[in-house]
Amino acid sequence: MSKWAYVNGRYLPHRSAAVHVEDRGYQFADGVYEVCEVLGGRLVDETRHLDRLKRSLDELRMAMPMSRAALGFVLREVVRRNRIGDGLVYVQVTRGVAPRDHVFPPDTVRPTVVVTARPAERGKTIERAEQGIAVITVPDNRWDRVDIKSVSLLPNVLARQAAKEAGAQEAWFVDGEGFVTEGAATNAWIVTADGALVTRSADHGILRGITRAGVFDLAARQGLRIEERRFTPEEAKTAREVFVTSATNLVMPVVRVDDAVIGNGVPGSVVTGLRRCFHDHVEIAALRRSRSAT
Ligand code: PDD
Repeated sequence: MSKWAYVNGRYLPHRSAAVHVEDRGYQFADGVYEVCEVLGGRLVDETRHLDRLKRSLDELRMAMPMSRAALGFVLREVVRRNRIGDGLVYVQVTRGVAPRDHVFPPDTVRPTVVVTARPAERGKTIERAEQGIAVITVPDNRWDRVDIKSVSLLPNVLARQAAKEAGAQEAWFVDGEGFVTEGAATNAWIVTADGALVTRSADHGILRGITRAGVFDLAARQGLRIEERRFTPEEAKTAREVFVTSATNLVMPVVRVDDAVIGNGVPGSVVTGLRRCFHDHVEIAALRRSRSAT
């Protein structure tokens, strides 16, 4: 099956989809992105993802490249054209193409908009969730505006690679005061001995995860207590359970932090329950007939 990508108003074969070498995303990482889960061909938490995209763009002093309705249409159209059942849809918005100069280009320069989609690696994710993943800890060497979902991900790339080389699946950043901020591409959580869910508050130190927000909703409905506070790797190593959240992993159990095995080394009941119920309360857009725009 041929794959499709949306680039600046056109649906193109994925293999030939490209942006210009002078794109500011390429030259300066001057852009933002979103990753939205697709379930049964429908977008999960579209409203929250588009809200966060708008917020990221506002922080970069960029306008939404098109109306929310139009962008929602494009996201669904890319999902439809790629025949994605369960998967992910990505959108990148950069400040556009202009001769290389750090200062903003003139207002006449249009932003670059790219939308791609891919199927979920279901088998792999289920296997991971059944076994639980390992995380390592690394110093947080990122800028202090990681609440902006910027395409500038070099520290995250290096951290994930370090995790891979250490036989782990995720790396947790640890701030200068010794507290966990978040993962390279996930939010970090622990479960205390008395069953409270602990995650860092969504200040500027972490990305305000949409899956994280979904777990807040779920916890409220299940009567689980959430403590929004910092925790150290040491607290995580002795926690009852540990997990991470993201659109790509949903609720993913962690069974090892550095060299410490969590609990008895298998996913615990709290995280397993959260994972099972995760989709019960999320916003899943009604199935809409997408007009084919060829
Ligand atoms: N990553 N923290 C960071 C640094 C992330 O990159 C992500 C998401 C999250 C979790 O956010 P959400 O629940 O909205 O996915 C936290 C996406 C999935 C990615 O870059 O692939």
